[in-house]
Amino acid sequence: MEHNIDIDDDLANQLSFPSSTTQKVLSRIAQIKLVSGHPEVYEPCDDSFALVDALLADRINLLEHRPTVCMEVGCGSGYVITSLAIMLGQEGDGHHYFATDINPHAVRVTHETLKAHGVHAEVICDNVASGLERRLEGMVDVMVVNPPYVPTPEDEVGIHGIAAAWAGGENGRTVIDKILPIADKLLSERGWLYMVTLTANNPFQICGIMRDKGYASRIVVQRSTEEESLHVIKFWRDAVVQGEGKEPTSTNKAPSASVMNSLLSQLPWLPFWNSGS
Ligand SMILES: C[S@@+](CC[C@H](N)C(=O)[O-])C[C@H]1O[C@@H](n2cnc3c(N)ncnc32)[C@H](O)[C@@H]1O
Repeated sequence: MEHNIDIDDDLANQLSFPSSTTQKVLSRIAQIKLVSGHPEVYEPCDDSFALVDALLADRINLLEHRPTVCMEVGCGSGYVITSLAIMLGQEGDGHHYFATDINPHAVRVTHETLKAHGVHAEVICDNVASGLERRLEGMVDVMVVNPPYVPTPEDEVGIHGIAAAWAGGENGRTVIDKILPIADKLLSERGWLYMVTLTANNPFQICGIMRDKGYASRIVVQRSTEEESLHVIKFWRDAVVQGEGKEPTSTNKAPSASVMNSLLSQLPWLPFWNSGS
C-alpha cells in the first residue's frame, strides 16, 4: 500500500543520500535540475512546492478520480504541470494536459521543462484561459493554480514579464477573482480545483464565493513562514454544499493529522470546511 507523504522536494533535493522512500516520492514529480528557466519566468518556489506537495498528498484520490482533462493556469516554469503529468500518466493512460500563462517566456520554458521530463501538455499564451473557454467548457477534471497573490498596487497587475508572477492587486485578489468564474465555467461536473492562497487574500471569502457556486472546500496543505501563511485549498462541486458537503471519491474516512492541524488553526473558517469525513 502506498502512503501519502508530505515532503518538500527542495528539502529532499538537499539530502545527499535520499532514502528509498524519498527517491520514490521524487520520481513521481518534476526534477528541479530538469526545470528550465528564464530571467523573466518565476522559478519554482515555496508556493510551487506547496502546490505539488498538495497534489502528492492527494495523489491516491487523484488516481482514483481518473481525470481526463487536467489544466494549469499560470504555469511559469512548468514545474507543477510537469509534476502532475508525471504523477498521473500521459495520453496513453487517457489524460490530456493544458497549461496557460500570460507570459510568453513562461510558455517556452514550460515546453522545455515538459520535454526534459518526457511528458506532454498543450501550452498556450493566454490571459487566464480566455482562448480555451469555449473549447474546454465543462471538461476540466483537475485544475491547478498558483496565482499572483501578493497585494500590490492595482496598476502592477498583468504587466509584462516576471512581475506578473506575483502582482495580485488589492488584497492580492485581482487575478484570483478573475480566475474563479473561469474555473467554474471550465470545470466538469466532477471537477477539482487546487489553488494556492495567502492569508492576506482572505481565503475564507474565496471559499464563500466558491460555496455560492456550489463548491465544498478543504485545506490540503498549509505552510507558514515568518512572512506569510500559504494554503493550498481544494474545491470540488457538491450538490449538498449548503449542508454537509461530502467529497465524492475520497477514500479517507478521517481527516489526516495535517488537515486536522490546519482546521484547528483556522477555527473561524470551520463552517466552510469539509474535512472529507
Ligand atoms: C506565482 S507564479 C506561479 C508559476 C508556477 N505555476 C509555479 O507554481 O511555480 C504565477 C504565474 O501566473 C502567471 N500569470 C499571471 N497573471 C496571469 C493571467 N492573467 N493569465 C495567465 N497567467 C498569468 C505569471 O506569469 C506566472 O507565471
